[in-house]
Amino acid sequence: MEIIHISAECYPVAKAGGLGDVVGALPKYQCRAGHVAKVIMPMYRTKFLYENEWEVHFKSAANLGDWHFDYTVIKEKTNKLGFDLYLVDINGLLDRHKIYGYADDTERFTAFQVAVVNWISKWEHRPDIVHCHDHHSGLIPFMMQHCYDFRHLAAIPTVLTIHNAEYQGWMSWDKSRYIPRWDLWKRGLLDWDGNINPLASGIKCAARVTTVSKSYMEELRTSAKGLERLFEYERSKCVGILNGIDNEVWNPATDKYLTDRFGKKDVAKGKKKNKQTICERFGLDSTKPLFVFIGRLVGEKAADILPGAIEMAISSTAGKASFLVLGSGDTTIEWQLQQLALSRKGIFHAVIGYDEALSHLLYAGADFLLMPSRVEPCGLNQMYAMRYGTLPMVRDTGGLRDTVTDMGDGGFGIRFKHATAADLDHAISRAAAVYSDTVQIDKMRKQMMDADHSWESTVSQYIQLYQSVL
Ligand code: ADP
Ligand code: GLC
Repeated sequence: MEIIHISAECYPVAKAGGLGDVVGALPKYQCRAGHVAKVIMPMYRTKFLYENEWEVHFKSAANLGDWHFDYTVIKEKTNKLGFDLYLVDINGLLDRHKIYGYADDTERFTAFQVAVVNWISKWEHRPDIVHCHDHHSGLIPFMMQHCYDFRHLAAIPTVLTIHNAEYQGWMSWDKSRYIPRWDLWKRGLLDWDGNINPLASGIKCAARVTTVSKSYMEELRTSAKGLERLFEYERSKCVGILNGIDNEVWNPATDKYLTDRFGKKDVAKGKKKNKQTICERFGLDSTKPLFVFIGRLVGEKAADILPGAIEMAISSTAGKASFLVLGSGDTTIEWQLQQLALSRKGIFHAVIGYDEALSHLLYAGADFLLMPSRVEPCGLNQMYAMRYGTLPMVRDTGGLRDTVTDMGDGGFGIRFKHATAADLDHAISRAAAVYSDTVQIDKMRKQMMDADHSWESTVSQYIQLYQSVL
């Protein structure tokens, strides 16, 4: 089967979060299972671009309203990632260092989608499946079915995976001129509550819609940033498929970012050495349990409760624990964390920024990973943590509910109900108590490292889904 994935992110080319990890791994494991999976994404100006070899694959032009642009599709020459990788270059739009966050993101990602559909429309053969990821490719199912120039693609089934419905890509109707000539009778397939909504359009037009866990799919029926009715209405084509993790990239026995690599047998020793490196680097005490948070500092992740919860936990553990946050996002949260680091030197440290290497070291050296998320469609961090023998402490929501069982119920994590400082503080007290039981913690670490979260076991669910629409 030939599957073409369309995404704004793909690790290691460009990653802002879990979307990048998933699109960097799922196609690789689909190829290993005997399929032909390809990825097409924007050509940002990232390190990966300059460090690899490319060939020009296709050149063309498009018209968006009164605006004409040329674009080039380049292909990575060596199949380095285990699948064919194509990048779309559009001068003045996609050629930036960051992935998102520009005032013209609407124009950037609409142009990207127009270029991608135009490219597929020129192929001599048709792929079996077009697989879109999030709102950045949400208009593609509509374009393939209702734009006059692309109607010969209408029979190709499309799948939309929603990694996060908090972001929908709304744009006002005056931007409809950016979509190549389309059947005006179909206006309702672009609209949601008076705006063009690429995510809603994708849900309406795709043959199948997936979210990245079953629990999140259920939650969307009652809480989906205004799309609840749509999820309810389209429920028959929606399914939750839990993400996997790339066990080759995330492997404590081979990870190049660790001070000391380890397996299940020497987990205690390995974690201790990595923890010492972290603590020396950030002025923390390595004899105490180390709690870390890694992620975007935004409301969805409940990062706003961290300063208060950590302050509370420092008193309730009588200073007998160390805390570290790695992340960036909301500037108020960043500032509060930096202030807390100044006043609680030696106990708490904040690293503001994005650091892939440090994240690996933290999964390896920390004892506990904090994930108080208000919304978590899947969450990969908790699965990386388990793979590195780090106990996840998660709020009972979305993919966290589907992957972490509380230690009181025979699992090896800690679950709590509310995204509040008090609940997180209570969970930290439970963790501090179990940390002193070295036999129990060692047993749980070994068990969690054995858990199978691999893509190998998930790929077949996607293939079955594709087959159901072929
Ligand atoms: P989301 O995609 O919502 O941000 P996920 O749990 O699915 O959440 O994935 C987050 C990914 O991004 C993980 O690979 C995590 O390690 C990584 N990550 C998040 N913030 C940072 C950061 N500041 N530095 C390094 N890696 C980060
Ligand atoms: C999103 C979600 C996260 C999920 C990731 C990969 O960014 O917020 O929960 O793990 O996508 O699917």
